[in-house]
Amino acid sequence: MNPLSYHSPKTAVRPSPIHGRGLFATTDIAKDEIVGVKGGHIVTREQLEEITPQLGPVEIQIDDDLFIAPVANDEREGSMLYSNHSCDANLGIRGEITFVAMRDIPAGEELTHDWATTDDDNYSVKCKCGAANCRGTLTGKDWQRPELQKRYSGYFSTYLAKKIARMSKRG
Ligand SMILES: C[S@@+](CC[C@H](N)C(=O)[O-])C[C@H]1O[C@@H](n2cnc3c(N)ncnc32)[C@H](O)[C@@H]1O
Ligand SMILES: [Zn+2]
Repeated sequence: MNPLSYHSPKTAVRPSPIHGRGLFATTDIAKDEIVGVKGGHIVTREQLEEITPQLGPVEIQIDDDLFIAPVANDEREGSMLYSNHSCDANLGIRGEITFVAMRDIPAGEELTHDWATTDDDNYSVKCKCGAANCRGTLTGKDWQRPELQKRYSGYFSTYLAKKIARMSKRG
C-alpha cells in the first residue's frame, strides 16, 4: 500500500532516546527543506476520541476541531511521521501538514517538532525530551507563550499563526 505520509529520503525511523521510535536525519538537511508531509484522513475531535484508544497518538492537529490521522490499523504505519516532541525542536510547520527543517540539521540528529507549533488543546503532560531548555510540563496552550511565539516565528501551523497574529493585534 502506498503510505499516506511522505518521508524525505534523507530520514529514517529508529529507536529514540526521547520515546519509542523517532525520526532521524540520515544525511545533512538544509534549513527549510521538507522532511515529511503528514497524510491521513481529516477527522473531527469527536472522531479522534474513537481513534485514539485503538491506534494511540497518531494525529496532527490542523484546526480547532480538525485533525489528520489514520483511521484503521492497516493505515497506522504509513501515516506515522514518528517525529517526537522536543522543547529544542529542529522542525517547524509549513502550512498545516508539511514538516520542514527550521535550521541546517547534521546527519544523525533526531528530527523533532515542538507541539506548541501544532496544538491548541487542553492537555498537560510531562516532557521527556531531555533538552537543556526543557519546559518540564507541556500543555496544549503552549502556543500562547511569548517566548515560544518568538522562537518559532514563521514555523507555526497556519491556523495557530493566525491566532497569534490576532492575539498580538489585540495587544
Ligand atoms: C506520534 S507519537 C511519536 C512517535 C512515538 N515515539 C512512537 O514510537 O510511536 C507521539 C507520542 O510519543 C510520545 N512522546 C513524544 N515526544 C515526547 C516527549 N518529549 N516527552 C514525552 N513523550 C513524548 C508521547 O507518548 C506522544 O503521545
Ligand atoms: Zn522538553
